[in-house]
Amino acid sequence: MSLDLLTIPAECVTESRISELDINNIEFGKIFSDHMLVADYKDGAWQNPQILPYGNMSLSPATSALHYGQAIFEGMKAYKDANGDILLFRPLDNFRRLNVSAERMCMPAITEDIFMQGLEQLLRLDAAWVPPTAGCALYIRPFMFATDDFIGVRPSSSYRFTIFSCPVGAYYGQALKVAIEPSFVRSAEGGAGYAKAAGNYGAALLPAKKMQEKGYHQLIWTDAKEHKYIEESGTMNLMFVIDGKLITPPVSTTILAGITRDSVLTLARDLGYTVEERKVSVDELVEAHKAGKLQEAFGTGTAATIAHIATIHYNDMDLDLPAVEDREISNRISTELDKIKTGQAPDPHNWVHRVSQ
Ligand code: COI
Repeated sequence: MSLDLLTIPAECVTESRISELDINNIEFGKIFSDHMLVADYKDGAWQNPQILPYGNMSLSPATSALHYGQAIFEGMKAYKDANGDILLFRPLDNFRRLNVSAERMCMPAITEDIFMQGLEQLLRLDAAWVPPTAGCALYIRPFMFATDDFIGVRPSSSYRFTIFSCPVGAYYGQALKVAIEPSFVRSAEGGAGYAKAAGNYGAALLPAKKMQEKGYHQLIWTDAKEHKYIEESGTMNLMFVIDGKLITPPVSTTILAGITRDSVLTLARDLGYTVEERKVSVDELVEAHKAGKLQEAFGTGTAATIAHIATIHYNDMDLDLPAVEDREISNRISTELDKIKTGQAPDPHNWVHRVSQ
């Protein structure tokens, strides 16, 4: 279906819930803006996109996503510039990645029209929910799930696509203590680790909980074969500065192709830093730390943006990293990225999508 120049029908709330939002104290993911987009896939096509008041959905207990996990999602953010205009950061990259996940999970691709037009209309309606405050944003959650009420195992023939949003502050409140995971596996070559599939996150909860019980905020996943190479951390890609070079594991079938990851690497290259996308072994980190060359470690992700790592735990060792304020590369890139996202700096890569009001 082409929505060119058409407007998605909207049923608007009679009264906004925005007064429930304490703009100076926003917790991640707890309060949702007034509207959501819903579209259904039936008979081989996306149908009936509409904007509705944010609210519960009624589902059959046999809804196949609940049983066999055909469920995928994205995360993106919108910001306000100094004039109060809404700026979306790289939404087309989220659109493309959602469809990469859809293909892997045997689900239909969403159309660019529904994704982008739905997003723009939602943001116009819920503009007041985009926090103008530094360090805050409107987190936007597009997702798709299988809706056949059938419990045989097969790809569903019907799906629902939804976008809703919530104002957010920082995902992590402090520099993180992380531990290298010695036995659990998030993802193996040929698996679905590169997809933003709900099950990848569900399967990560137990190992993460066990690490949290030992006093770490997150774990660092290692490769499935040898537990020798670094993969990701929790919901983030990982980067290290070793001897002045920015080093990160390459994307593969086991690692999510992070949009923040790509933005950080692009800005680092623009700023003249040496960037290496290559395997990073746990031994290399330990050796670099011993030699005083492990200068920075951080995670990147839409929710987390740039999350500094204070300590990496491995075997019986705690590798303590330099103070956050002394970290040149991650701090410089974090500042540059924030300026681009909020319209305070030129946008040479056309990452910012301005929502016309
Ligand atoms: C994101 O960074 O958008 C994520 O996917 C993390 C989310 C699971 C909170």
